Amino acid sequence: MAFSPLFHGLAFFLAALLLASTAADAQLCPNLYKKSCPQLEHIVRDIVKNAVAEETRMAAKLLRLHFHDCFVNGCGASITLDNTTTMDSEKDAPPNLNSIFGFEVIDDIKKQLEAACPGVVSCADILALSALYAVEEVGGPSWSLSFGRKDVLMANKSLASEVLPNQNSSVLELIENFARQNLNARDMTALSGGHTIGAARCLTFRPRIYNTTSIDSCFAATRQETCPRNFGDGDNNLAPLDDKTPGLFDNQYYKNLLAQRGLLPSDQVLFDNGSQDALVTLYATNQSAFFHDFATAMTKMSNIHPSRGTKGEIRTNCRRIN
Ligand code: HEM
Repeated sequence: MAFSPLFHGLAFFLAALLLASTAADAQLCPNLYKKSCPQLEHIVRDIVKNAVAEETRMAAKLLRLHFHDCFVNGCGASITLDNTTTMDSEKDAPPNLNSIFGFEVIDDIKKQLEAACPGVVSCADILALSALYAVEEVGGPSWSLSFGRKDVLMANKSLASEVLPNQNSSVLELIENFARQNLNARDMTALSGGHTIGAARCLTFRPRIYNTTSIDSCFAATRQETCPRNFGDGDNNLAPLDDKTPGLFDNQYYKNLLAQRGLLPSDQVLFDNGSQDALVTLYATNQSAFFHDFATAMTKMSNIHPSRGTKGEIRTNCRRIN
């Protein structure tokens, strides 16, 4: 049977479309690397463990890295790409600039994995697994994780500036922001519990400690000691997001909110006579409920796909495309 050139053209177009759309849309699977890279868990666990032992805050850095990756066109390791002449790195987008860390640990893991099983494990999967082990390392819950994410071929700095949530958002804005990622209000409130570890710069919480009433006055006074009122003074001075147990992944973050001791404006809006008050109270009084919901939401977040048709690969170096 003879086919017309039009038919051939159409068939080629459809095949190309299928290939492109499967690249980053591949089905994720929990045992993907069992045969192709049996050393995966050991390598990642070891490096994360050592990095957190050296600096407790590294757990927070690795968790945030995965979050900021997944919110910008899905979990495709767009965040680890460096600047090139044709591409602006997401590292320089305002929510990330001087604020997102942990890339050396990811480099280290990638290097060891490339030696053990070259070309097999994507950077996006490394980010997802490192976040899980980092949280476990500081006492947090585990969650089910599947593999098979592909590394995207483009960073998107302007999208990162647009979609990453802002600390001055209202609770409604936060709910809407997470809804755009198919995460509901419960997911948002549970995921915000990630702020039970790590630190923030004075720049991000200054408005809250000088200009709000929904704050414990002793807490405000303590924070003001190292975060001066004037813009430009001590902007980079750090304070723990949870000052009671900063190195422990627990439900203290929510207890702080009940006591009006949330650090960021976006933390305290979760408990401020609003829609999330009941959930915050539940998490503050029941750590298992928090751990359960956090784990559920992390699995959902780590499954956010790059948009349909995004092309993908397994990068050799997480900082650049192959
Ligand atoms: C609800 C919306 C959120 C907003 C507005 C927000 C905002 C922020 C801000 C402003 C900082 C401090 C950055 C700096 O000073 O450089 C921060 C730190 C952090 N965030 Fe969030 N965040 C949100 C949700 C999340 C989620 C969902 C997670 C993870 C599940 C997370 C994990 C972290 C961690 C671990 C840190 C500390 C990082 C470190 O110590 O280096 N955040 N966040």
